[in-house]
Amino acid sequence: MRINVDLLKEFEAGLNPAHPEKSKIPARVLGYGEISTVFEIEGEPNLACKRMPIFRCREELDHYEAIYHEYNRILNDKIGISVPPYGFASFATDKGYIVCFDIQEKLPAQSFGDKLIHTLGDDDIMVLVRLILRQLKKVWDFNRASTSLQIGIDGQISNWAIKNFDPASPHVGAETELYYVDTSTPFIRKEEKEQLDPELFLRSAPSFLLWLIRWLFLEDVMTRYYDFHLVVVDLIANFYKEQRPELIPRLVQVANDFLANEAGTLEVTPITVREVRSYYREDALIWTIFLAMRRLDRWLHERILSKPYIYTLPGKIKR
Ligand SMILES: Nc1ncnc2c1ncn2[C@@H]1O[C@H](COP(=O)(O)OP(=O)(O)OP(=O)(O)O)[C@@H](O)[C@H]1O
Ligand SMILES: [Mg+2]
Repeated sequence: MRINVDLLKEFEAGLNPAHPEKSKIPARVLGYGEISTVFEIEGEPNLACKRMPIFRCREELDHYEAIYHEYNRILNDKIGISVPPYGFASFATDKGYIVCFDIQEKLPAQSFGDKLIHTLGDDDIMVLVRLILRQLKKVWDFNRASTSLQIGIDGQISNWAIKNFDPASPHVGAETELYYVDTSTPFIRKEEKEQLDPELFLRSAPSFLLWLIRWLFLEDVMTRYYDFHLVVVDLIANFYKEQRPELIPRLVQVANDFLANEAGTLEVTPITVREVRSYYREDALIWTIFLAMRRLDRWLHERILSKPYIYTLPGKIKR
């Protein structure tokens, strides 16, 4: 993929993190992540640029770049989960920090799962979730067959997009193919050792609260993505956040049918509606606290410390 690094450097130099649309080179936020913000930058209308200003030194960034590429390759070539065409760029800024951009071909907003569950009919949504489960199963088939390498994945509905989506006839069928986009958190374990430094998740949180966040949820966040049962619970619990909770009982049935039949050999414990509900409550609490802490940190930087705050935070999240 061809990347205009000079444009990215200019973008970064003139970025207004709190109001990206008011930057020297304006940008639109396509999505917010735990560790990245996804921008469409003026001048590159066909790219989604996931900005991460979180690295403390070159070694840290180089290691991240290596596992980012490896994760994309393993998913796409070995496991058979398609990722969009991608690239990577990184550089030191003249403000004294280093930044990287995970770059992907930009896919149409309407082709993403979190949009589709508001535009497709309910039956099609069930088909879509089945297709996602089929993709996810490949990860655990791979993990089972592999001895030294384990892959984790975040199955959330907003991480999947329909390939070659035609908004004029928004239909899902057995022939529909999906892209997985969320490769900025490369969950790879080699010889049981996690390759992704969990501390990266904490970089945009205030340092005086790190002990609390570590204790609250870091362990949990780093292990759930390797557990098929939890990844499916997480996917279904997402329907609360995405404002379609009424679909959950039916989704639980679809998932359990899938787990018992197509994925029978993996012997995954069935899911209950109750478990999905309590999982969602806890998860929403974790991320709400986390975001509140980041906002507090931004406030401290701007009002008390008079230091620039380099992260872009989401506005109010409807849950
Ligand atoms: N290639 C892309 N084209 C268009 N929009 C995208 C693309 N990649 C991501 N987005 C938008 O940004 C959202 C978040 O992207 P992604 O899932 O990669 O990051 P994230 O969930 O924020 O992850 P992380 O926590 O790993 O940073 C997506 O749900 C989608 O709306
Ligand atoms: Mg995501």
